[in-house]
Amino acid sequence: MSEEFTRREMIGAGAVALTLACSDAGAEPERPTAAKGRRRERLERWKFHLGHAADVEKDFGFGRDQRTFAKAGTAADAAMPKFDDAGWDEVIVPHDWAVGLAFEAAPPSPNADNADSRAAHGFKAIGRDFPQNSIGWYRTPIEVTAADRGRRIWLEFDGVFRDSIVFVNGYDVIRNESGYAPFSVRIDDFLNYDGSPNVVTVRCDATLGEGWFYEGAGIYRHVELVRAEPLHIPQWGVVVRSSLGPDGASVHIAIDITNGGDLPESGLLRLSIVGPGGETVFANEAMPISLAAGEQRTFAKEAHFSAPQLWSIETPNLYAVRAEVLGNDSRLIDNVDTRFGMRTIRFDPERGFFLNGRPVKLLGTANHQDHAGVGTGIPESLHRWRISKLQQMGSNAWRSAHNPPSTALLDACDEMGMLMIVEQRINSSSDEALAELERTIRRDRNHPCVILWSLGNEEPHQASERGALINAELKAHVRRLDPTRPTTFAMDQGWDNGVGRVVDVLGFNYRTNQIEAYHQRHPEQPVYGSETGSTVATRGEYANDPARHVLRSYDTEHPWWATTAEEWWTIVADRPYIAGGFVWTGFDYRGEPTPYSSLPSISSQFGILDTCGFPKDNYYYYRAWWRPDQPLVHLLPHWSWQGRDGQPIEVWAHANTEEVELRLNGRSLGRKRMPRNRHLTWQVPYERGKLEAIGYDRGRVAARDVQETSGPPHAVRLMVDRRLAKAGEVVIANAVVVDARGRPVPSADNRLRFGASNGHVIGVGNGNPNSLEPDVSSDRKAFNGFAQAIVRVGRGPVDISVASDGLRGSSARMVAL
Ligand code: GAL
Repeated sequence: MSEEFTRREMIGAGAVALTLACSDAGAEPERPTAAKGRRRERLERWKFHLGHAADVEKDFGFGRDQRTFAKAGTAADAAMPKFDDAGWDEVIVPHDWAVGLAFEAAPPSPNADNADSRAAHGFKAIGRDFPQNSIGWYRTPIEVTAADRGRRIWLEFDGVFRDSIVFVNGYDVIRNESGYAPFSVRIDDFLNYDGSPNVVTVRCDATLGEGWFYEGAGIYRHVELVRAEPLHIPQWGVVVRSSLGPDGASVHIAIDITNGGDLPESGLLRLSIVGPGGETVFANEAMPISLAAGEQRTFAKEAHFSAPQLWSIETPNLYAVRAEVLGNDSRLIDNVDTRFGMRTIRFDPERGFFLNGRPVKLLGTANHQDHAGVGTGIPESLHRWRISKLQQMGSNAWRSAHNPPSTALLDACDEMGMLMIVEQRINSSSDEALAELERTIRRDRNHPCVILWSLGNEEPHQASERGALINAELKAHVRRLDPTRPTTFAMDQGWDNGVGRVVDVLGFNYRTNQIEAYHQRHPEQPVYGSETGSTVATRGEYANDPARHVLRSYDTEHPWWATTAEEWWTIVADRPYIAGGFVWTGFDYRGEPTPYSSLPSISSQFGILDTCGFPKDNYYYYRAWWRPDQPLVHLLPHWSWQGRDGQPIEVWAHANTEEVELRLNGRSLGRKRMPRNRHLTWQVPYERGKLEAIGYDRGRVAARDVQETSGPPHAVRLMVDRRLAKAGEVVIANAVVVDARGRPVPSADNRLRFGASNGHVIGVGNGNPNSLEPDVSSDRKAFNGFAQAIVRVGRGPVDISVASDGLRGSSARMVAL
């Protein structure tokens, strides 16, 4: 336990250890009469308009003259409550305006960003050369009444891209540069309590970037408005840490309370813990608290559980600390619920990662934060859907590359049992970077999914003395804020020096075959693959075609610095000291088109899944070996090769059964033993019909896969990810083009039109890394048979449909409550 935590416990009013069995702690104390208390609301509905980085009038008067910030409350026209935003678009946050911009081949000015940088960001018309697209303005009214007078009121932004200025009623209240770190600002001094309007305005400037990948633009994560009493628990004011011992789990709770008022305050602090099933499993006697005016204090408690329900990958049990501040008259002054999980983590230099004392290989993927159709503005249910795709493959860990993730993603990982590496964007010990790190850790340290703090990735100073100095300072800062998790850094060279000598757990980006020698030299340091793989492949393509920028989907193509899936996994699988690896990447992402870095390539091809989450063939390699207990055979390629009769076709099977037999139109082409962690190949003279792979375990059929020659496109089928949703959520609707007998047509590129009654198609995609079609649309061509729509649903029955000229359409009914 850190010194700081110990000190905090000491200054707490009652560091009393309470030991209660894991059961209902008795009748709930009588509920006090509700006072104003705390109110928390999500600001989802905003008006949006593009501004202009070079034309003041089109930028709503911002920067009209050198006196822009001269006088309080008048910084820009659009920041004023009376400004008329009737002509602005209505948007729902999370919102990324960059995803709706055109792709631009030729930058119009000599100042042009160089081609590499434009490719890296996905060729969107944003940046210095597109001043008309690089500034975004958001406005939303907030309701404030006379009853709010005297309260502490603040805004919490989970992430805004980028360089944002927040205005409240014309006052600029905070400027935040980072496009990834959370920030918050107190606003009660700037509000009108007399019934006149109150407006929050945000100006985001996405002219410059922070990454070498698509970064989106705008308020792409949640914003919350919080009202509390002067005596309150500040943001991130509750820290919960658990430790496990032979007789159960100890839970340490530290709670900050602030008296923001002008008078001393006293009252009571009541703590309870709600178990995974929603029942109260711990409650303490309310303890007296008293704080001088302006004082902040930390109060600590400890609870013991003899039979804790541990948080794990398989059983992600979540508890919540309910902290309530009561007045001396028992009225509820403030309350905050903080979720946590009871679990232990440990990295062992010989045996890898341990969760709750059990070794767990990290079967990970590294991911950026964009998806087809919506860019970086990912709604909650899409986060969950993406996690579930990876889990179905057998993945248990996610590296948020190269920036802190959204709270929504962390919440979903907590709930679904996905381990997470949280990474900093800026690897520096500047005041600003330290502040970003601090906010991130304070936000994320209660999430049981988080197992490592990654300080950086492949920074030019990684192997230098300066790199070591900077990261030693960052590590010390992390320790102060969270002594329970190790630090890491993703290095691609110079591991023996610089940062490699500082961080607790060392990440290897690629170079998997150099880990062994490093381990011999540094047997005391745990290691893992922070970026592994990465095969490049275009879904549904089976021949490299440089003219079309497509890559074959066999596990053979990779950049010089990387490897195939099979090459890295066969090394890591059998070495317990390597804690695991994170494939670069789980999903294709916009930007970094590799190896074809010119238009029409606009997204990467490293993904195991494409930008829509449609699996490429390598998905089944990982699925076979990351879930070895679930028999699987996957056959590639498709079997519709018109004009190739009699020519040899390279056939592969990804499988995990003991043997695999290949059959063509009922004839056996022989059985082969399946080598562990590898694949099987055949050369098969093409003949139309049915190619079948049958997997045997102990001589019995355990799994099979079939590829059949299809006829021409006849119909389009729709599959929705669920039949029941909450109103306002998104559902993921996938379409596949099939022939008259329902067989997928592997090369179909029909134009599909999506629609929804009582719903709205917010974006579409097809996973084609070379498509310049718009994402913010309701129609899209299929790519190699598939396309996707993301549909926001209203309340009640929703009919989602897909149609296409000349094809039979289909629809799916679902219900939103
Ligand atoms: C790595 C880098 C990633 C990505 C990848 C592409 O070096 O850390 O962000 O650029 O290469 O192969």
